[in-house]
Amino acid sequence: MKTQQTQLHLHHPHRHRGRRQRLALLATAGAAGFLLLAGASPALAQSAPGKPAAPAAGMSKDELVARGKYIVSTSGCHDCHTPWHVGPNGPEPDMRRALSGHPQAMVMPPAPKLPEGPWLVVTAATNTAFAGPWGVTYTANLTPDPESGLGKWTAKDFIETIRTGRRMGRGREILPPMPYPVYNNMTDADLTAVFTYLQSIPAMPNKVPEPRPPAAPVAGKS
Ligand code: HEC
Repeated sequence: MKTQQTQLHLHHPHRHRGRRQRLALLATAGAAGFLLLAGASPALAQSAPGKPAAPAAGMSKDELVARGKYIVSTSGCHDCHTPWHVGPNGPEPDMRRALSGHPQAMVMPPAPKLPEGPWLVVTAATNTAFAGPWGVTYTANLTPDPESGLGKWTAKDFIETIRTGRRMGRGREILPPMPYPVYNNMTDADLTAVFTYLQSIPAMPNKVPEPRPPAAPVAGKS
């Protein structure tokens, strides 16, 4: 994982929204650069974050898919949602399993205890499972498989997830390192394009495990 965690000044590993948002932001410093570029495009000025999802109208389905593919491939989604393998040129996302999330067959053992010091996060070889102060999280299956992916989601469910940090805007909280606070800067038009693209890729059945809560905090230790 090309992470960026060296700057974390996290001494109290309690669950806290602001802190988790910072974590997620730090975890995707790379994705943030793109968003600056995206903000410069006049096509994107149509809708502000938080407005209803109308402005994607006017784009054909093919245009939405192309736009969504561009955003997904420049915003780091593959970094975490596509399992990494060692390819001919070294570690890289395995595009045969594009965006299918943490492989269900890869059962992670308990995370190792972190050493003293500013190390904070442990990452699986696939870059699809993460252990940190929030517990253990596994990247979701974003393909349109109806049972294990987003096949039953609507564009509204997807947008509300990114806007609120809760599944479909009403379910459980989305945990780090999913950088929804970064993607919340996207317009509704762009999020609609991302969702339209995700619904267009091959469905891959892959049931991702639920997150595991953090181990109980050790008394007297911070
Ligand atoms: C730094 C790693 C990382 C990046 C980059 C990332 N995600 Fe995630 N994402 C996660 C993790 C981990 C979860 C699961 C969090 C949880 O279980 O609470 C997740 C969950 C989600 C969910 C919730 C799905 C569900 O069923 O609950 C959606 C939707 C999602 N990501 C979309 C995206 C999109 C779209 C992008 C790119 C624009 C992206 N993610 C980039 C790590 C990442």
